[in-house]
Amino acid sequence: MKNIVIKGTGHFAPKRIVTNEYLSTIMDTSDEWIKTRTGIETRHYIDDDKCTSDLAVEAAKMAIKSANIKPEDIDLLVIGTSSQDMIYPSTACIVSDKLGLNRPMAFDLQAGCSGFVYGLSVATQFLRTGHKKIALIIGADAITRFTDFTDRATCVLFGDAAGAIILTTADDEEDAILCLYEGTDGSGAKYLTLPAGGSKEPASPLTVENRRHFLHMNGKEIFKFAVRISIHMITKMLEETGLSIDDIDHFVFHQANMRIIDAAVERMSFSKEKVIYTLNEYGNTSSASIPLTLSLASEQGRIKKGDIVLMVVFGSGLTYAGSIVRW
Ligand code: UT7
Repeated sequence: MKNIVIKGTGHFAPKRIVTNEYLSTIMDTSDEWIKTRTGIETRHYIDDDKCTSDLAVEAAKMAIKSANIKPEDIDLLVIGTSSQDMIYPSTACIVSDKLGLNRPMAFDLQAGCSGFVYGLSVATQFLRTGHKKIALIIGADAITRFTDFTDRATCVLFGDAAGAIILTTADDEEDAILCLYEGTDGSGAKYLTLPAGGSKEPASPLTVENRRHFLHMNGKEIFKFAVRISIHMITKMLEETGLSIDDIDHFVFHQANMRIIDAAVERMSFSKEKVIYTLNEYGNTSSASIPLTLSLASEQGRIKKGDIVLMVVFGSGLTYAGSIVRW
């Protein structure tokens, strides 16, 4: 089995920044409510003439540059997304073309916000066996295309962005992937849905009238699930690796709600200093949330070579995934 290394990271967020104050002018909400209930202060919105593949391409370009590899050597491209450009072809095929890749295996992975970490896990299996050699894994979402601006309980949470990572096999370096953890609790599928536009409810005047092409969420149920599953994953991954909380240099949680992160940190009693937060600036960017946070922290020099990073995420499905990596 091959060792795997993290060769490079990249991220991209659109220029347009939307503040809580602005949202307060278009709906019945307030900066105070959003900040205290979620920790979010601003988020980035995609330009009207762009789509998810455009976000993914920018993040990928940065990752390719930082990894110092040739794009044509990438033989596996996985994009975690639930806001694909269209139902088909996959966004990965479109991104592959826009980047000028050389016919890699390319596919989208739909696991809600867990898409990127699921993708990390899938790509690891391909590299470990030597079947693929250089993987580009992207988390990209333009969720604001699907948020209902008449539903204040969901639309204030989300922003658009992409994050990317390059993994390669390496014979002469320590293995970077120390642990992978994934699962699904399908009984919670009803808590976060975009009901229409698929085979169950094809688009019709009625689906449009009933706002069925927007995201619907039971925030309270997801909140409880998120705290419980984050603690569960951290505990299991530490058990599996034999690492202690003190061995972890950085915790990267899904950037959904500051109160979810803080509840998990409090129950597990570790220092908040080790937690990397980006949700105040970017909001919940779905599948981009983890790779965006990793790439920003790496760019800022906060995550350094050799550091041990633990990440956990949850999302529509309800999916969940975690990993411990050596940077
Ligand atoms: O990656 C996807 C995963 N999704 C999530 O992680 C979501 C997890 N859940 C959450 O983050 C929280 O449940 C929310 C932020 C969505 C909601 O916070 P909450 O503390 O659970 O609020 P709530 O739904 O219980 O609502 C409390 C009150 C309600 O008013 P009443 O009925 O008490 O009068 C809501 O109508 O807050 C009201 N409210 C708002 N008020 C001002 C809901 N949204 C807003 C808003 N501005 N934007």
